[in-house]
Amino acid sequence: GKRIRPAMLLFAAGAIGEVNNMSCQAANIIEYIHTATLLHDDVVDNADLRRSKKSARTIWGNEASVLVGDYLFTVSFKYLAAFKNLRMVEELSKATTLMARGEILQLTRSNDSATEEDYLEIVYHKTASLMGAAMALGVISAKGTEEQQQAFYDCGKHIGMAFQLIDDALDYDLDNQSLGKQQGADLKERKITLPLSHLLKTASETDREIVLDILDEDEITDAHVLCVGKLVQKYGSAEYTKKRAEDYISQAKKDLTLVPQNEYRKSIDKLADFIVFRKQ
Ligand code: IPE
Ligand code: IPE
Ligand code: MG
Ligand code: MG
Repeated sequence: GKRIRPAMLLFAAGAIGEVNNMSCQAANIIEYIHTATLLHDDVVDNADLRRSKKSARTIWGNEASVLVGDYLFTVSFKYLAAFKNLRMVEELSKATTLMARGEILQLTRSNDSATEEDYLEIVYHKTASLMGAAMALGVISAKGTEEQQQAFYDCGKHIGMAFQLIDDALDYDLDNQSLGKQQGADLKERKITLPLSHLLKTASETDREIVLDILDEDEITDAHVLCVGKLVQKYGSAEYTKKRAEDYISQAKKDLTLVPQNEYRKSIDKLADFIVFRKQ
């Protein structure tokens, strides 16, 4: 894994104070939570591939993935409780509740023609909330103020929005070999992400019909994915999604305008830029 969330947490701590033992432990916790959600997510999404390898559920089964995910989740809160820091508990439990809500929202919306607003709400819940919490926990560990906590939460949230948008664009980038997940998986799961909703909105009547017919098929095949991938290219839907992600990155940088520059602060900007250019 890229370990982006712990990096965000440690950079936030270092940007306003000192990276201490609590920051390191909190970074550990945030990656545990992330790992737990991936174990669960691959069950929900029927994913066979994760980090270029067979997903846990294909090796050990759905049962083991759910239970080990639960275990990592509960262990995270056990470690968190050991801090005896209510601000940390509040921040992390808010994020994990939002994440669960996001996954449920997505499940109930997947077959509908969800609006862009619905989609962005899901993205905030399932991905951006944990990244916001990561940066907020960094601030708390470094004994920052509530104002700093809020500013870094917003920054992490905006980075997270961009992160998921790029992830959804990469799902349609069929030439990219380094993603480590199956491309076209969102389409196969009939998930209406931003590239697809942009395509449906901008395509000609004939092309739109082609996509809608594919979404109506009993099984969405690789050939269907290829066809929709070409249309995504034709209508610049991945580019549009990338532009939206860039807007979120600009917002994330603005959230920290009051934070003085140091090495950690610079690393946050670099990480934010990496999010947009990443291929994996
Ligand atoms: C994958 O997150 C889940 C999403 C929010 C899209 P990452 O891409 O950060 O996963 P790893 O840990 O680096 O594999
Ligand atoms: C993101 O969901 C994972 C979570 C936040 C639980 P996705 O289903 O979109 O992510 P990938 O593509 O499987 O990594
Ligand atoms: Mg998934
Ligand atoms: Mg999912």
